[in-house]
Amino acid sequence: RNYRSHTECRGDINRLNTPFLAIYESLIPAEEEKEKQKQLMALLDKHVKKEWPGARLFLYGSCANSFGFRKSDIDVCLAMGDADINKSEILLRLADILKSDNLENVQALTRARVPIVKLMDPVTGISCDICVNNLLAVINTKLLRDYSKIDVRLRQLAFIVKHWAKSRGVNETYQGTLSSYAYVLMCIHFLQQRSPSILPCLQDMEITYSVNVDNVKCSFFDQVEKLQGFGSRNGEGIAQLVWAFFNYWAYCHDYANDVISIRTGSIVSKRAKDWTRRIGNDRHLICIEDPFEVSHDLGRVVDKRSIRVLREEFERAAEIMQHDPNPCVKLFEPY
Ligand code: GTP
Ligand code: MG
Repeated sequence: RNYRSHTECRGDINRLNTPFLAIYESLIPAEEEKEKQKQLMALLDKHVKKEWPGARLFLYGSCANSFGFRKSDIDVCLAMGDADINKSEILLRLADILKSDNLENVQALTRARVPIVKLMDPVTGISCDICVNNLLAVINTKLLRDYSKIDVRLRQLAFIVKHWAKSRGVNETYQGTLSSYAYVLMCIHFLQQRSPSILPCLQDMEITYSVNVDNVKCSFFDQVEKLQGFGSRNGEGIAQLVWAFFNYWAYCHDYANDVISIRTGSIVSKRAKDWTRRIGNDRHLICIEDPFEVSHDLGRVVDKRSIRVLREEFERAAEIMQHDPNPCVKLFEPY
């Protein structure tokens, strides 16, 4: 293995902007998908309001954070107001209600890590997972969506990285690799760190949005229309950024000592967070701080075996971006 970082990027890198943008364009959802999602949400809302008048439904995850591919499933959160509820009971009741309408494959999975009701709507063809009171996910969805409005290169980079991760089999938390959410945090952090920076740190600016959820204070600057042009002093194109992203995770990140943190817009030390030892199942082999649940490491799923898989994939991607004549094909080759 070659651990040297490439300090200088290939000379023809900008030639690759067009094919990378074409891949990005091919992955973004069509407008009519949004309409179908709204249609399904309206149907679910009707049922929920009838049974629980005070409850509300929120979209979260990739269907709402702007990082979703076309034809993805949707994630829905049922907010019950009252924190003192029995989630399993609610989910079983919800499943019964939805079964009596013509929704298909309705199932309550009450023993999952995040208990949900799953269903498929034959009218729109959309599959959906509904969870209860997972409000932090709703708020971090808003944070990601707000970041994506500041500079289009975030959405471009995150789509390429997610597409690469799915193609290469490293977007599987149950196999010890990273969630899509973790990859998007890595992209935001990376763009905060460019020089000049392409993204600001919204949690380190004037507070214009603030909520308390599960005893966590979530506050940040959300008037992102005022930040249009923030990254314009940086002229890097998508291909250059993809190259630099993989070069960073292959050769530059200090896995032994560093935690990436979009909350602070910089690197935090593992020592400062007391993430130097294995505690329970948390090994902290790659450290990605959640922006709101700061004791939460999105890398906690990574183990001794999967960290090697991940790092070898970062190195493979970095080498392809540096040397391959046709990186846009090679990068996404199925593993
Ligand atoms: P796809 O792969 O396109 O489905 O992406 P996704 O954004 O829907 O991905 P994922 O399944 O990783 O996560 C769904 C949503 O759940 C995220 O957007 C977050 O809002 C939330 N989420 C996922 N994992 C965590 C976590 O570990 N902690 C918290 N607080 N939220 C999480
Ligand atoms: Mg999802």
